[in-house]
Amino acid sequence: MTRITETPAWAALAEHQQAMSGVHLRDLLADDPQRAQRLTVDAGALFTDYSKHRVTDETMRLLFELAETAGVRRMIDAMFAGEKINLTEDRAVLHIALRAPADATIIVDGENVVPGVHAVKRRMAEFAEQVRTGEWRGATGRPIRTVVNIGIGGSDLGPAMAYDALRAFSKRDMAFRFVSNVDGDDMAEALLDLDPAETLFIVASKTFTTVETITNATTAREWLLAGLGVGPGSSPEAGYPGDVGDVGDVGEGDAVARHFVAVSTNTAKVAEFGIDTANMFEFWDWVGGRYSYDSAIGLSLMVAIGGLAFDEMLHGFHEMDEHFRTTPFERNLPVVMALLGIWYHNFFGAETLAILPYSQYLGRLSAYLQQLDMESNGKSVDRSGRRVDHATGPVVWGTPGTNGQHAYYQLIHQGTRLIPADFIGFLAPQHDTRHADGYRHHDLLMANFFAQTEALALGRTRDEVVAAGVPGHQIAHRVFEGNHPTTTIIASQLTPGVLGQLIACYEHKVFVQGVIWDVNSFDQWGVELGKSLAVRIEPELVAADEPVLTHDASTNALIRRYRAARGR
Ligand code: F6P
Repeated sequence: MTRITETPAWAALAEHQQAMSGVHLRDLLADDPQRAQRLTVDAGALFTDYSKHRVTDETMRLLFELAETAGVRRMIDAMFAGEKINLTEDRAVLHIALRAPADATIIVDGENVVPGVHAVKRRMAEFAEQVRTGEWRGATGRPIRTVVNIGIGGSDLGPAMAYDALRAFSKRDMAFRFVSNVDGDDMAEALLDLDPAETLFIVASKTFTTVETITNATTAREWLLAGLGVGPGSSPEAGYPGDVGDVGDVGEGDAVARHFVAVSTNTAKVAEFGIDTANMFEFWDWVGGRYSYDSAIGLSLMVAIGGLAFDEMLHGFHEMDEHFRTTPFERNLPVVMALLGIWYHNFFGAETLAILPYSQYLGRLSAYLQQLDMESNGKSVDRSGRRVDHATGPVVWGTPGTNGQHAYYQLIHQGTRLIPADFIGFLAPQHDTRHADGYRHHDLLMANFFAQTEALALGRTRDEVVAAGVPGHQIAHRVFEGNHPTTTIIASQLTPGVLGQLIACYEHKVFVQGVIWDVNSFDQWGVELGKSLAVRIEPELVAADEPVLTHDASTNALIRRYRAARGR
Protein backbone atom coordinates (compact mmCIF):
# COMPACT_ATOMS: atom_id res chain seq x y z
CA MET A 1 0.00 0.00 0.00
CA THR A 2 1.19 3.51 -0.80
CA ARG A 3 2.58 5.33 2.19
CA ILE A 4 1.18 8.79 2.91
CA THR A 5 4.69 10.21 2.44
CA GLU A 6 4.70 8.86 -1.14
CA THR A 7 1.54 10.70 -2.18
CA PRO A 8 1.46 13.87 -4.28
CA ALA A 9 -0.45 15.56 -1.44
CA TRP A 10 2.49 15.02 0.94
CA ALA A 11 5.04 16.09 -1.67
CA ALA A 12 3.07 19.27 -2.37
CA LEU A 13 3.09 20.14 1.32
CA ALA A 14 6.82 19.45 1.61
CA GLU A 15 7.45 21.81 -1.28
CA HIS A 16 5.08 24.41 0.10
CA GLN A 17 6.86 24.24 3.44
CA GLN A 18 10.04 25.46 1.72
CA ALA A 19 8.19 28.55 0.63
CA MET A 20 6.55 29.06 4.02
CA SER A 21 9.56 28.48 6.25
CA GLY A 22 10.74 32.07 5.84
CA VAL A 23 7.31 33.67 6.19
CA HIS A 24 6.62 35.52 9.42
CA LEU A 25 3.26 35.71 11.19
CA ARG A 26 3.87 39.43 11.59
CA ASP A 27 3.65 39.80 7.82
CA LEU A 28 0.84 37.33 7.37
CA LEU A 29 -1.29 39.27 9.86
CA ALA A 30 -0.30 42.71 8.57
CA ASP A 31 -0.72 41.90 4.88
CA ASP A 32 -4.02 40.09 5.26
CA PRO A 33 -6.03 41.42 8.22
CA GLN A 34 -9.06 39.54 6.88
CA ARG A 35 -7.43 36.28 7.92
CA ALA A 36 -8.62 36.99 11.46
CA GLN A 37 -12.17 36.54 10.16
CA ARG A 38 -11.43 33.85 7.59
CA LEU A 39 -9.20 31.50 9.54
CA THR A 40 -11.71 30.76 12.27
CA VAL A 41 -14.09 27.91 13.01
CA ASP A 42 -17.34 27.91 14.97
CA ALA A 43 -18.10 24.48 16.31
CA GLY A 44 -20.93 24.30 18.81
CA ALA A 45 -19.99 26.60 21.66
CA LEU A 46 -16.31 26.71 20.72
CA PHE A 47 -15.01 29.63 18.71
CA THR A 48 -11.56 28.93 17.33
CA ASP A 49 -9.13 31.38 15.80
CA TYR A 50 -6.28 29.77 13.89
CA SER A 51 -5.14 32.89 12.09
CA LYS A 52 -1.99 32.96 14.23
CA HIS A 53 -0.69 29.90 12.42
CA ARG A 54 2.02 29.85 9.80
CA VAL A 55 -0.46 29.00 7.09
CA THR A 56 -2.04 30.62 4.08
CA ASP A 57 -5.19 29.64 2.22
CA GLU A 58 -2.93 27.58 -0.02
CA THR A 59 -1.46 25.74 3.01
CA MET A 60 -4.92 24.87 4.21
CA ARG A 61 -5.99 23.74 0.75
CA LEU A 62 -3.02 21.38 0.59
CA LEU A 63 -3.69 20.11 4.11
CA PHE A 64 -7.34 19.40 3.31
CA GLU A 65 -6.15 17.55 0.22
CA LEU A 66 -3.89 15.47 2.45
CA ALA A 67 -6.86 14.57 4.64
CA GLU A 68 -8.81 13.47 1.55
CA THR A 69 -5.86 11.48 0.25
CA ALA A 70 -5.44 9.71 3.60
CA GLY A 71 -9.07 8.60 3.56
CA VAL A 72 -10.15 10.56 6.62
CA ARG A 73 -13.76 10.73 5.40
CA ARG A 74 -13.93 6.97 4.89
CA MET A 75 -12.46 6.30 8.33
CA ILE A 76 -14.87 8.72 10.05
CA ASP A 77 -17.75 6.84 8.44
CA ALA A 78 -16.21 3.49 9.43
CA MET A 79 -15.84 4.55 13.07
CA PHE A 80 -19.40 5.87 13.32
CA ALA A 81 -20.72 2.73 11.62
CA GLY A 82 -19.14 0.50 14.27
CA GLU A 83 -16.59 -1.13 11.96
CA LYS A 84 -13.78 -2.91 13.77
CA ILE A 85 -11.15 -0.30 13.02
CA ASN A 86 -9.08 -1.28 16.06
CA LEU A 87 -7.41 -3.95 13.98
CA THR A 88 -4.91 -5.40 16.44
CA GLU A 89 -7.61 -6.01 19.05
CA ASP A 90 -10.35 -6.71 16.51
CA ARG A 91 -12.67 -4.19 18.14
CA ALA A 92 -15.06 -1.46 17.10
CA VAL A 93 -14.23 2.04 18.36
CA LEU A 94 -17.47 3.48 19.60
CA HIS A 95 -17.02 6.05 22.32
CA ILE A 96 -19.43 8.07 20.17
CA ALA A 97 -22.16 5.54 21.14
CA LEU A 98 -21.77 6.56 24.79
CA ARG A 99 -23.35 9.90 24.02
CA ALA A 100 -25.69 8.93 21.20
CA PRO A 101 -29.37 9.79 21.78
CA ALA A 102 -31.65 6.97 22.90
CA ASP A 103 -33.26 6.61 19.48
CA ALA A 104 -29.95 6.16 17.63
CA THR A 105 -28.98 2.81 16.16
CA ILE A 106 -25.35 1.69 16.24
CA ILE A 107 -24.79 -1.94 15.43
CA VAL A 108 -21.89 -4.02 16.75
CA ASP A 109 -21.85 -7.73 15.94
CA GLY A 110 -25.46 -7.56 14.83
CA GLU A 111 -26.70 -5.81 17.97
CA ASN A 112 -27.80 -2.22 18.56
CA VAL A 113 -25.60 -1.07 21.46
CA VAL A 114 -27.47 2.17 22.20
CA PRO A 115 -30.23 0.72 24.45
CA GLY A 116 -27.56 -0.92 26.64
CA VAL A 117 -25.71 2.38 26.98
CA HIS A 118 -28.87 4.14 28.13
CA ALA A 119 -29.81 1.35 30.52
CA VAL A 120 -26.46 1.65 32.31
CA LYS A 121 -26.78 5.42 32.36
CA ARG A 122 -30.17 5.14 34.04
CA ARG A 123 -28.75 2.82 36.71
CA MET A 124 -25.85 5.20 37.24
CA ALA A 125 -28.23 8.14 37.62
CA GLU A 126 -30.35 6.26 40.17
CA PHE A 127 -27.30 5.26 42.16
CA ALA A 128 -25.78 8.75 41.98
CA GLU A 129 -29.04 10.24 43.22
CA GLN A 130 -29.21 7.79 46.13
CA VAL A 131 -25.68 8.69 47.20
CA ARG A 132 -26.26 12.41 46.74
CA THR A 133 -29.49 12.45 48.74
CA GLY A 134 -28.13 10.27 51.53
CA GLU A 135 -30.58 7.49 50.75
CA TRP A 136 -27.61 5.21 50.12
CA ARG A 137 -26.28 4.37 53.56
CA GLY A 138 -22.99 2.91 54.72
CA ALA A 139 -22.85 -0.23 56.83
CA THR A 140 -23.52 1.69 60.04
CA GLY A 141 -26.43 3.60 58.59
CA ARG A 142 -24.59 6.83 57.93
CA PRO A 143 -24.79 8.66 54.60
CA ILE A 144 -21.75 8.83 52.32
CA ARG A 145 -19.65 11.97 52.60
CA THR A 146 -16.59 11.03 50.56
CA VAL A 147 -16.29 9.15 47.30
CA VAL A 148 -12.89 7.70 46.48
CA ASN A 149 -12.38 6.68 42.87
CA ILE A 150 -9.74 3.98 42.53
CA GLY A 151 -8.47 3.56 38.98
CA ILE A 152 -5.52 4.42 36.79
CA GLY A 153 -4.93 5.77 33.29
CA GLY A 154 -8.25 6.22 31.55
CA SER A 155 -10.07 4.97 34.64
CA ASP A 156 -8.65 7.87 36.66
CA LEU A 157 -7.54 10.75 34.48
CA GLY A 158 -10.93 11.36 32.84
CA PRO A 159 -13.10 11.46 35.96
CA ALA A 160 -10.39 13.31 37.90
CA MET A 161 -9.94 15.92 35.17
CA ALA A 162 -13.69 16.38 34.67
CA TYR A 163 -14.38 16.57 38.41
CA ASP A 164 -11.87 19.41 38.69
CA ALA A 165 -13.24 21.07 35.57
CA LEU A 166 -16.83 20.94 36.80
CA ARG A 167 -16.20 21.48 40.47
CA ALA A 168 -18.36 24.58 40.38
CA PHE A 169 -21.30 22.28 39.56
CA SER A 170 -20.45 19.67 42.21
CA LYS A 171 -22.16 18.84 45.47
CA ARG A 172 -20.08 20.87 47.85
CA ASP A 173 -20.95 19.01 51.02
CA MET A 174 -19.36 15.87 49.65
CA ALA A 175 -15.68 15.24 48.93
CA PHE A 176 -14.24 13.39 45.95
CA ARG A 177 -10.79 11.87 45.81
CA PHE A 178 -8.95 10.01 43.10
CA VAL A 179 -6.35 7.40 43.93
CA SER A 180 -4.34 5.97 41.07
CA ASN A 181 -0.70 5.45 41.96
CA VAL A 182 0.35 2.11 43.42
CA ASP A 183 2.70 4.16 45.57
CA GLY A 184 1.14 3.50 48.98
CA ASP A 185 1.59 7.15 49.86
CA ASP A 186 -1.21 8.02 47.44
CA MET A 187 -3.73 5.79 49.21
CA ALA A 188 -2.41 6.69 52.67
CA GLU A 189 -2.90 10.41 52.01
CA ALA A 190 -6.35 9.86 50.50
CA LEU A 191 -7.56 7.91 53.53
CA LEU A 192 -5.79 9.93 56.21
CA ASP A 193 -8.75 11.93 57.47
CA LEU A 194 -11.61 9.78 56.24
CA ASP A 195 -14.23 7.99 58.25
CA PRO A 196 -14.81 4.50 56.80
CA ALA A 197 -18.46 4.61 57.83
CA GLU A 198 -19.01 7.54 55.45
CA THR A 199 -16.70 6.55 52.60
CA LEU A 200 -17.65 4.95 49.30
CA PHE A 201 -15.06 3.43 46.99
CA ILE A 202 -15.66 3.25 43.27
CA VAL A 203 -13.24 0.75 41.79
CA ALA A 204 -12.93 1.70 38.14
CA SER A 205 -11.09 -0.64 35.82
CA LYS A 206 -12.01 -1.72 32.34
CA THR A 207 -10.17 -5.02 32.68
CA PHE A 208 -10.28 -5.33 36.49
CA THR A 209 -6.85 -6.93 36.25
CA THR A 210 -4.73 -3.77 36.43
CA VAL A 211 -2.32 -4.47 39.25
CA GLU A 212 -2.18 -0.90 40.59
CA THR A 213 -5.95 -0.68 40.86
CA ILE A 214 -6.45 -4.12 42.37
CA THR A 215 -3.67 -3.47 44.88
CA ASN A 216 -5.18 -0.13 45.87
CA ALA A 217 -8.69 -1.59 46.05
CA THR A 218 -7.45 -4.42 48.28
CA THR A 219 -5.82 -1.89 50.61
CA ALA A 220 -9.02 0.14 50.69
CA ARG A 221 -11.10 -2.92 51.50
CA GLU A 222 -8.79 -3.90 54.37
CA TRP A 223 -8.88 -0.33 55.68
CA LEU A 224 -12.65 -0.31 55.53
CA LEU A 225 -13.14 -3.64 57.28
CA ALA A 226 -10.58 -2.86 59.95
CA GLY A 227 -12.11 0.57 60.44
CA LEU A 228 -15.61 -0.80 60.77
CA GLY A 229 -14.36 -3.57 62.99
CA VAL A 230 -15.90 -6.29 60.85
CA GLY A 231 -12.82 -7.95 59.52
CA PRO A 232 -9.29 -8.89 60.33
CA GLY A 233 -8.01 -6.41 57.73
CA SER A 234 -4.56 -4.96 58.13
CA SER A 235 -5.08 -1.26 57.83
CA PRO A 236 -2.50 0.94 56.14
CA GLU A 237 -0.59 3.18 58.49
CA ALA A 238 -3.03 6.00 57.94
CA GLY A 239 -5.45 6.21 60.81
CA TYR A 240 -9.15 7.00 60.87
CA PRO A 241 -11.43 8.57 63.43
CA GLY A 242 -12.39 6.28 66.28
CA ASP A 243 -16.18 6.50 66.31
CA VAL A 244 -17.53 4.84 63.21
CA GLY A 245 -20.98 4.12 64.55
CA ASP A 246 -22.61 0.81 65.25
CA VAL A 247 -22.09 -1.91 62.68
CA GLY A 248 -24.44 -4.25 64.51
CA ASP A 249 -24.19 -7.71 63.00
CA VAL A 250 -23.07 -6.47 59.62
CA GLY A 251 -20.75 -9.05 58.04
CA GLU A 252 -17.79 -8.50 55.76
CA GLY A 253 -19.79 -9.06 52.61
CA ASP A 254 -22.49 -6.59 53.60
CA ALA A 255 -19.93 -3.98 54.59
CA VAL A 256 -18.16 -4.30 51.26
CA ALA A 257 -21.50 -4.14 49.45
CA ARG A 258 -22.41 -0.81 51.14
CA HIS A 259 -18.99 0.77 50.56
CA PHE A 260 -17.71 -0.64 47.26
CA VAL A 261 -19.06 -0.45 43.76
CA ALA A 262 -17.26 -1.40 40.59
CA VAL A 263 -17.10 -0.10 37.04
CA SER A 264 -15.79 -2.64 34.60
CA THR A 265 -16.26 -4.77 31.51
CA ASN A 266 -15.19 -7.85 33.48
CA THR A 267 -18.00 -9.26 35.65
CA ALA A 268 -16.07 -12.39 36.64
CA LYS A 269 -13.12 -10.45 38.02
CA VAL A 270 -15.38 -8.02 39.89
CA ALA A 271 -17.10 -10.97 41.60
CA GLU A 272 -13.74 -12.60 42.32
CA PHE A 273 -12.62 -9.41 44.08
CA GLY A 274 -15.68 -9.66 46.32
CA ILE A 275 -17.81 -6.83 45.01
CA ASP A 276 -21.47 -7.73 44.58
CA THR A 277 -22.07 -7.64 40.82
CA ALA A 278 -25.42 -6.00 41.57
CA ASN A 279 -23.21 -3.02 42.42
CA MET A 280 -21.32 -3.16 39.15
CA PHE A 281 -21.78 -0.68 36.34
CA GLU A 282 -20.83 -2.12 33.04
CA PHE A 283 -19.25 -0.83 29.86
CA TRP A 284 -17.95 -2.51 26.77
CA ASP A 285 -14.76 -3.53 24.99
CA TRP A 286 -15.51 -1.08 22.18
CA VAL A 287 -14.79 1.79 24.59
CA GLY A 288 -11.07 2.43 24.90
CA GLY A 289 -9.83 3.28 28.42
CA ARG A 290 -8.70 6.76 27.40
CA TYR A 291 -12.04 7.36 25.67
CA SER A 292 -14.15 6.15 28.58
CA TYR A 293 -14.89 8.86 31.09
CA ASP A 294 -18.31 9.48 29.54
CA SER A 295 -19.15 5.80 30.19
CA ALA A 296 -19.77 4.33 33.65
CA ILE A 297 -16.10 5.19 34.33
CA GLY A 298 -17.51 8.66 35.00
CA LEU A 299 -19.63 7.41 37.90
CA SER A 300 -17.69 9.39 40.51
CA LEU A 301 -18.17 12.49 38.37
CA MET A 302 -21.87 11.77 38.09
CA VAL A 303 -22.19 11.51 41.86
CA ALA A 304 -20.36 14.83 42.11
CA ILE A 305 -22.36 16.81 39.56
CA GLY A 306 -25.62 14.82 39.33
CA GLY A 307 -27.28 13.02 36.47
CA LEU A 308 -28.66 16.11 34.76
CA ALA A 309 -25.31 17.88 34.50
CA PHE A 310 -23.71 14.61 33.36
CA ASP A 311 -26.34 14.39 30.62
CA GLU A 312 -25.63 17.97 29.64
CA MET A 313 -21.97 17.00 29.29
CA LEU A 314 -22.87 13.99 27.13
CA HIS A 315 -24.99 16.27 24.98
CA GLY A 316 -21.93 18.45 24.47
CA PHE A 317 -19.91 15.42 23.41
CA HIS A 318 -22.67 14.44 20.99
CA GLU A 319 -22.88 17.92 19.49
CA MET A 320 -19.17 17.77 18.68
CA ASP A 321 -19.55 14.22 17.32
CA GLU A 322 -22.20 15.49 14.93
CA HIS A 323 -20.12 18.49 13.97
CA PHE A 324 -17.20 16.17 13.24
CA ARG A 325 -19.29 13.64 11.33
CA THR A 326 -21.20 16.06 9.14
CA THR A 327 -19.19 19.25 8.62
CA PRO A 328 -17.02 19.71 5.53
CA PHE A 329 -13.34 19.54 6.42
CA GLU A 330 -12.83 23.28 5.80
CA ARG A 331 -15.10 24.13 8.75
CA ASN A 332 -14.55 20.98 10.79
CA LEU A 333 -12.75 21.91 14.01
CA PRO A 334 -11.16 18.54 14.89
CA VAL A 335 -10.01 18.16 11.29
CA VAL A 336 -8.53 21.67 11.16
CA MET A 337 -6.74 21.19 14.49
CA ALA A 338 -5.41 17.80 13.39
CA LEU A 339 -4.08 19.21 10.13
CA LEU A 340 -2.37 22.14 11.84
CA GLY A 341 -0.63 19.62 14.10
CA ILE A 342 0.46 17.56 11.10
CA TRP A 343 1.81 20.72 9.45
CA TYR A 344 4.16 21.41 12.35
CA HIS A 345 5.01 17.87 13.47
CA ASN A 346 5.71 16.51 10.01
CA PHE A 347 6.83 19.49 7.99
CA PHE A 348 8.50 21.79 10.54
CA GLY A 349 9.85 19.10 12.89
CA ALA A 350 7.93 20.37 15.94
CA GLU A 351 8.00 17.67 18.59
CA THR A 352 5.60 18.88 21.23
CA LEU A 353 2.21 20.48 21.65
CA ALA A 354 1.51 22.77 24.60
CA ILE A 355 -2.02 22.82 26.00
CA LEU A 356 -2.48 26.06 27.90
CA PRO A 357 -5.91 26.49 29.48
CA TYR A 358 -6.60 29.85 31.06
CA SER A 359 -8.83 28.30 33.67
CA GLN A 360 -7.75 26.93 37.01
CA TYR A 361 -10.55 24.39 36.73
CA LEU A 362 -8.73 22.83 33.76
CA GLY A 363 -5.67 22.09 35.85
CA ARG A 364 -5.68 18.43 34.88
CA LEU A 365 -6.62 18.89 31.24
CA SER A 366 -3.14 18.47 29.80
CA ALA A 367 -2.50 15.35 31.91
CA TYR A 368 -5.72 13.93 30.54
CA LEU A 369 -4.85 14.90 26.97
CA GLN A 370 -1.39 13.39 27.40
CA GLN A 371 -2.92 9.95 27.71
CA LEU A 372 -5.52 10.60 25.03
CA ASP A 373 -2.95 11.74 22.50
CA MET A 374 0.27 9.97 23.47
CA GLU A 375 -1.20 6.55 24.20
CA SER A 376 -3.23 6.77 21.00
CA ASN A 377 -0.67 8.03 18.53
CA GLY A 378 2.64 7.17 20.18
CA LYS A 379 3.20 4.44 17.60
CA SER A 380 6.00 3.65 15.16
CA VAL A 381 4.44 1.04 12.93
CA ASP A 382 1.54 1.60 10.58
CA ARG A 383 -1.73 -0.28 10.61
CA SER A 384 -0.21 -3.07 8.53
CA GLY A 385 2.82 -3.39 10.83
CA ARG A 386 5.41 -1.56 8.68
CA ARG A 387 7.80 0.91 10.31
CA VAL A 388 6.49 4.40 9.58
CA ASP A 389 8.79 6.83 7.80
CA HIS A 390 7.41 9.99 9.37
CA ALA A 391 6.95 11.43 12.84
CA THR A 392 3.79 10.40 14.71
CA GLY A 393 2.21 11.66 17.94
CA PRO A 394 3.67 14.71 19.67
CA VAL A 395 4.67 15.09 23.30
CA VAL A 396 1.71 16.83 24.92
CA TRP A 397 2.23 19.01 27.96
CA GLY A 398 1.15 22.20 29.70
CA THR A 399 -0.44 23.73 32.77
CA PRO A 400 -2.97 26.49 33.32
CA GLY A 401 -2.08 30.06 32.47
CA THR A 402 -0.92 32.35 33.96
CA ASN A 403 1.21 30.02 36.08
CA GLY A 404 3.13 28.74 33.06
CA GLN A 405 3.97 32.32 32.05
CA HIS A 406 6.09 32.63 35.16
CA ALA A 407 7.77 29.29 34.62
CA TYR A 408 8.40 27.86 31.17
CA TYR A 409 6.94 30.36 28.67
CA GLN A 410 10.46 31.81 28.51
CA LEU A 411 11.49 28.79 26.46
CA ILE A 412 8.49 29.08 24.16
CA HIS A 413 9.20 32.77 23.54
CA GLN A 414 12.96 32.76 23.24
CA GLY A 415 14.16 29.15 23.13
CA THR A 416 15.31 27.40 19.97
CA ARG A 417 12.33 25.09 19.57
CA LEU A 418 9.11 25.48 17.67
CA ILE A 419 6.28 24.77 20.11
CA PRO A 420 2.76 25.08 18.76
CA ALA A 421 0.29 25.80 21.55
CA ASP A 422 -3.44 25.61 22.13
CA PHE A 423 -4.73 28.50 24.25
CA ILE A 424 -8.13 27.76 25.80
CA GLY A 425 -10.08 30.54 27.50
CA PHE A 426 -13.55 31.54 28.63
CA LEU A 427 -15.48 34.77 28.31
CA ALA A 428 -16.98 34.45 31.77
CA PRO A 429 -15.44 32.94 34.90
CA GLN A 430 -17.27 30.71 37.37
CA HIS A 431 -16.56 33.20 40.15
CA ASP A 432 -16.42 36.87 39.29
CA THR A 433 -13.73 37.57 41.88
CA ARG A 434 -13.11 41.32 42.16
CA HIS A 435 -11.80 44.13 44.30
CA ALA A 436 -13.88 46.76 46.06
CA ASP A 437 -13.21 49.22 43.23
CA GLY A 438 -14.62 46.79 40.63
CA TYR A 439 -11.25 45.52 39.37
CA ARG A 440 -11.85 41.95 38.18
CA HIS A 441 -9.46 39.01 38.19
CA HIS A 442 -10.98 37.64 35.02
CA ASP A 443 -10.16 40.74 32.97
CA LEU A 444 -6.52 40.45 33.97
CA LEU A 445 -6.50 36.72 33.25
CA MET A 446 -7.92 37.28 29.78
CA ALA A 447 -5.60 40.22 29.12
CA ASN A 448 -2.77 37.75 29.65
CA PHE A 449 -4.51 35.19 27.47
CA PHE A 450 -4.69 37.61 24.52
CA ALA A 451 -1.28 39.15 25.20
CA GLN A 452 0.56 35.85 25.07
CA THR A 453 -0.68 34.76 21.65
CA GLU A 454 0.03 38.24 20.30
CA ALA A 455 3.55 38.25 21.75
CA LEU A 456 4.22 34.74 20.50
CA ALA A 457 3.08 35.61 16.99
CA LEU A 458 4.61 39.04 16.53
CA GLY A 459 7.63 38.94 18.80
CA ARG A 460 9.69 42.09 19.22
CA THR A 461 12.16 43.15 16.60
CA ARG A 462 15.62 44.52 17.19
CA ASP A 463 14.48 47.92 15.91
CA GLU A 464 11.61 47.96 18.38
CA VAL A 465 13.95 47.01 21.20
CA VAL A 466 16.40 49.77 20.26
CA ALA A 467 13.58 52.30 19.88
CA ALA A 468 12.41 51.43 23.38
CA GLY A 469 15.79 52.66 24.68
CA VAL A 470 17.04 49.30 25.88
CA PRO A 471 20.75 49.48 26.87
CA GLY A 472 23.11 48.08 24.21
CA HIS A 473 24.30 45.06 26.17
CA GLN A 474 20.72 43.88 26.62
CA ILE A 475 19.44 44.36 23.08
CA ALA A 476 20.08 40.86 21.72
CA HIS A 477 18.63 39.35 24.88
CA ARG A 478 15.42 41.31 24.66
CA VAL A 479 14.60 40.54 21.04
CA PHE A 480 11.71 38.14 20.53
CA GLU A 481 11.78 36.38 17.18
CA GLY A 482 8.05 35.65 17.33
CA ASN A 483 6.46 33.51 14.63
CA HIS A 484 5.28 31.02 17.26
CA PRO A 485 1.99 29.48 16.16
CA THR A 486 -1.01 29.30 18.47
CA THR A 487 -4.63 28.24 18.29
CA THR A 488 -7.07 30.24 20.39
CA ILE A 489 -10.18 28.40 21.56
CA ILE A 490 -12.82 30.45 23.35
CA ALA A 491 -16.14 29.43 24.89
CA SER A 492 -18.58 31.52 26.86
CA GLN A 493 -18.14 29.59 30.12
CA LEU A 494 -16.83 26.24 31.34
CA THR A 495 -20.12 24.34 31.60
CA PRO A 496 -20.64 20.56 31.46
CA GLY A 497 -21.76 20.86 27.83
CA VAL A 498 -18.74 22.93 26.86
CA LEU A 499 -16.39 20.46 28.54
CA GLY A 500 -18.01 17.64 26.56
CA GLN A 501 -17.50 19.54 23.32
CA LEU A 502 -13.90 20.32 24.12
CA ILE A 503 -12.98 16.73 24.99
CA ALA A 504 -14.79 15.27 21.99
CA CYS A 505 -12.96 17.78 19.81
CA TYR A 506 -9.58 16.53 21.04
CA GLU A 507 -10.69 12.89 20.73
CA HIS A 508 -11.53 13.44 17.08
CA LYS A 509 -8.42 15.49 16.45
CA VAL A 510 -6.31 12.59 17.68
CA PHE A 511 -8.36 10.24 15.48
CA VAL A 512 -7.78 12.30 12.32
CA GLN A 513 -4.05 12.49 12.97
CA GLY A 514 -3.93 8.73 13.54
CA VAL A 515 -5.67 8.16 10.20
CA ILE A 516 -3.22 10.41 8.36
CA TRP A 517 -0.24 8.75 10.06
CA ASP A 518 -1.88 5.37 9.35
CA VAL A 519 -1.40 4.14 12.91
CA ASN A 520 -3.88 2.25 15.07
CA SER A 521 -4.86 4.92 17.60
CA PHE A 522 -6.81 2.44 19.70
CA ASP A 523 -4.34 -0.11 21.02
CA GLN A 524 -1.57 0.45 23.59
CA TRP A 525 0.87 -2.43 23.34
CA GLY A 526 3.64 -0.07 24.39
CA VAL A 527 2.61 -0.33 28.04
CA GLU A 528 2.94 -4.11 28.15
CA LEU A 529 6.70 -4.68 28.32
CA GLY A 530 7.29 -2.64 31.47
CA LYS A 531 4.21 -4.22 33.09
CA SER A 532 5.45 -7.77 32.53
CA LEU A 533 8.96 -6.94 33.72
CA ALA A 534 7.54 -5.45 36.93
CA VAL A 535 5.66 -8.69 37.57
CA ARG A 536 8.96 -10.54 37.23
CA ILE A 537 10.99 -8.13 39.36
CA GLU A 538 8.61 -7.77 42.30
CA PRO A 539 9.29 -11.31 43.68
CA GLU A 540 13.00 -10.67 43.23
CA LEU A 541 12.76 -7.61 45.46
CA VAL A 542 11.04 -9.44 48.29
CA ALA A 543 12.60 -12.94 48.09
CA ALA A 544 14.07 -14.06 51.42
CA ASP A 545 17.00 -15.78 49.70
CA GLU A 546 19.29 -13.98 47.30
CA PRO A 547 17.59 -14.45 43.92
CA VAL A 548 19.47 -15.34 40.76
CA LEU A 549 19.20 -12.15 38.72
CA THR A 550 19.33 -12.45 34.97
CA HIS A 551 18.58 -8.88 33.93
CA ASP A 552 21.11 -6.55 32.36
CA ALA A 553 24.04 -5.47 34.54
CA SER A 554 22.49 -2.13 35.45
CA THR A 555 19.12 -3.54 36.49
CA ASN A 556 20.75 -6.38 38.46
CA ALA A 557 22.88 -3.87 40.39
CA LEU A 558 19.92 -1.61 41.12
CA ILE A 559 17.84 -4.52 42.40
CA ARG A 560 20.71 -5.61 44.68
CA ARG A 561 21.06 -2.07 46.01
CA TYR A 562 17.34 -1.91 46.80
CA ARG A 563 17.37 -5.32 48.51
CA ALA A 564 20.34 -4.33 50.64
CA ALA A 565 18.68 -1.06 51.68
CA ARG A 566 15.54 -2.96 52.68
CA GLY A 567 17.60 -5.45 54.69
CA ARG A 568 17.09 -8.39 52.35
O1 F6P B 1 -1.78 0.26 30.86
C1 F6P B 1 -2.49 1.15 30.06
C2 F6P B 1 -3.96 1.01 30.31
O2 F6P B 1 -4.42 -0.16 29.75
C3 F6P B 1 -4.71 2.21 29.79
O3 F6P B 1 -4.97 2.14 28.44
C4 F6P B 1 -5.93 2.18 30.65
O4 F6P B 1 -6.61 3.40 30.61
C5 F6P B 1 -5.30 1.88 31.99
O5 F6P B 1 -4.26 0.98 31.70
C6 F6P B 1 -6.22 1.31 33.01
O6 F6P B 1 -6.79 0.11 32.58
P1 F6P B 1 -8.03 -0.53 33.32
O7 F6P B 1 -9.17 0.42 33.20
O8 F6P B 1 -8.29 -1.82 32.62
O9 F6P B 1 -7.66 -0.74 34.76
